[in-house]
Amino acid sequence: MTNQQYTATTMAGLEEVLAQELIEIGADEVQIGRRSVYFSGDLKMLYKANYCLRTALRILVPIDAYKIHSADDLYQRGKNFKWEELFGVEQTFAIQSIVFSDLFNNSMYASLKLKDAIVDRFRYKFGDRPSVNSKNPDILINLHISNEYCTISLDSSGESLHKRGYRLDQNEAPMSEVLAAGLIRLSGWDRQSELIDPMCGSGTIAIEAAMLANGIYPGNVRKNFAFKNWRTYNPGIFKRMEEEVQPVSKQPVKILASDILRRNIDIASKNADEAGVGSLIDFKVSDFKLLDPALEKPFLLFNPPYGERLSSDDTNFYSMIGERLKHHYTNATVWIISTAQCLKSIGLRPSKKITILNGSLECSFRKYELYSGSKKIIADDNVSKE
Ligand SMILES: C[S@@+](CC[C@H](N)C(=O)[O-])C[C@H]1O[C@@H](n2cnc3c(N)ncnc32)[C@H](O)[C@@H]1O
Repeated sequence: MTNQQYTATTMAGLEEVLAQELIEIGADEVQIGRRSVYFSGDLKMLYKANYCLRTALRILVPIDAYKIHSADDLYQRGKNFKWEELFGVEQTFAIQSIVFSDLFNNSMYASLKLKDAIVDRFRYKFGDRPSVNSKNPDILINLHISNEYCTISLDSSGESLHKRGYRLDQNEAPMSEVLAAGLIRLSGWDRQSELIDPMCGSGTIAIEAAMLANGIYPGNVRKNFAFKNWRTYNPGIFKRMEEEVQPVSKQPVKILASDILRRNIDIASKNADEAGVGSLIDFKVSDFKLLDPALEKPFLLFNPPYGERLSSDDTNFYSMIGERLKHHYTNATVWIISTAQCLKSIGLRPSKKITILNGSLECSFRKYELYSGSKKIIADDNVSKE
């Protein structure tokens, strides 16, 4: 099998952990980009990347790249491309565009030009055309134009990879599965000691942690990938890859997940069952104010509720978290993601700060290390910032 270039897209701030994941699964020529990581590999690597990566959103396969000087250049080159080698008239397609160029007023116009080119190519060749289905296409095409540089890729994932398939229901503010997996990696959790999410909502952090520690890949749950609709899809190679990455049984790693709301615990435990990790997570309804995990060296990772504007209730809530940590979590390592403003009210000094974009909201992911004896945070004077 020959090697090809691929692009894995991700969220801002997760590029390095995605690159680490790619190296771990054996990808070649791993290079960090902006909200993306470039790599190369054979067809099996393409399937494996979709199946195994926890911090990637999509895996793109560039199929054509060139310079354009007008919208018509996009049409002409698109019409000359042999689309019929990739899919048939009976299949549906859609185009997703990202355009930063004066040649197009908007990305919709660029999508339309390429769509016309594809349709006209099929009509010319077969007297018939494939239909567009923007909601659930068989073939998803990614068009990226930056000034005069145009790259056309096939999106091998289809639906974004954060949609693992285990989230049957969710609370009001669920975290993206890709973000949860990224935070767990950024935290440096050893995948052996018990991890606690004391404000678990729909359970994303706990479920992703249980999957990671127990060697369960997203692909063990999700079955749909766009590459399965391609003419080039090779089920034999996919099967061999799948056999190679099956979880190996080992001593299970326990996760503790609690939330103040019974409804959220019900949702989280159903989602965990769907992900195949229900038996690995201890769920509990509890107010954080009363939670006492009684572990020797607790490791906490959570995202408390936060609004875009800080209210006095928020200030009190965050100072309650700080007080509780100070007095009941000696020897703990605690990672919290929230807005920088909310985190100020915790009143503890972080030893690490990482800026992360959660959707469009800038958040801070902070590490607090608590030591026994002094019952106070040992402040690290060299707080590391990204
Ligand atoms: C931002 S959400 C967490 C979302 C979660 N990471 C997910 O993926 O669904 C914050 C959670 O904190 C819970 N919560 C609020 N106050 C709490 C308290 N005092 N003790 C425990 N949980 C609390 C809320 O019920 C909510 O589920």
